[in-house]
Amino acid sequence: MDQLKRQAAARALEEVRDGMQLGLGTGSTAKHFVELLGARVAAGLNVIGVPTSEATRADAERCGVPLTTLDEIDHLDITVDGADEIDPDLNLIKGGGGALLREKIVAAASDRMIVIADDTKWVPTLGRFPLPIEVIPFGLGATRRAIEKAFAQCGVSGQMAVRRAKDGHVFVTDGGHWILDAQLGRIADPAGLAKALSVIPGVVEHGLFIGLASSAVLAGGEGIRVIERRKPKGD
Ligand code: A5P
Repeated sequence: MDQLKRQAAARALEEVRDGMQLGLGTGSTAKHFVELLGARVAAGLNVIGVPTSEATRADAERCGVPLTTLDEIDHLDITVDGADEIDPDLNLIKGGGGALLREKIVAAASDRMIVIADDTKWVPTLGRFPLPIEVIPFGLGATRRAIEKAFAQCGVSGQMAVRRAKDGHVFVTDGGHWILDAQLGRIADPAGLAKALSVIPGVVEHGLFIGLASSAVLAGGEGIRVIERRKPKGD
């Protein structure tokens, strides 16, 4: 599996050109990309990156990839990031690693987002992977009730649990927020659910990435498939 992730990362690296400004994703697949990019930088490639998490910042520094922020530059050429699920419209569930907020800010600031994954992430319909919803701890009860109402309006339901770290403590994001993981099973209308969640006070961001991915690089036993998004970015 790790080999497949690295192959997908290597294929995405072929899209990188000298002088590009890159969004650097988070997770085990994106980490391969950062490592491979670091090797190219050591060989003379001139790029600059914006990391989507403190973990990726540390990886990029270790690999010698120069970093900047979205305050210092006005756009990114390409963001390369992993995903937890990818559907045929290239809508995604992200946030299994807890970095969904910065990942979405960075992807939205990019001309192109390339998703890299092993092909087990490819699904006909999103929802088997629990949907991460980043929330403010204050007033969590009210936020949960509003989320349940949004689920009912969008025809989905399922258990929600506050994410915990391996040590049993509540998982806290890089932004200081908590995550609710919602087991929805099948999300028939991801765009509708994304809109309904976005307007809830207390929801900082959710892991539905709608219309952000430009292409997906999927590595599997049969080789690599590159799937291009049919609709323009933002649709
Ligand atoms: C991080 O918050 C996530 O969005 C990751 O991109 C996603 O969980 C994929 O991670 P892996 O590449 O480790 O599967």
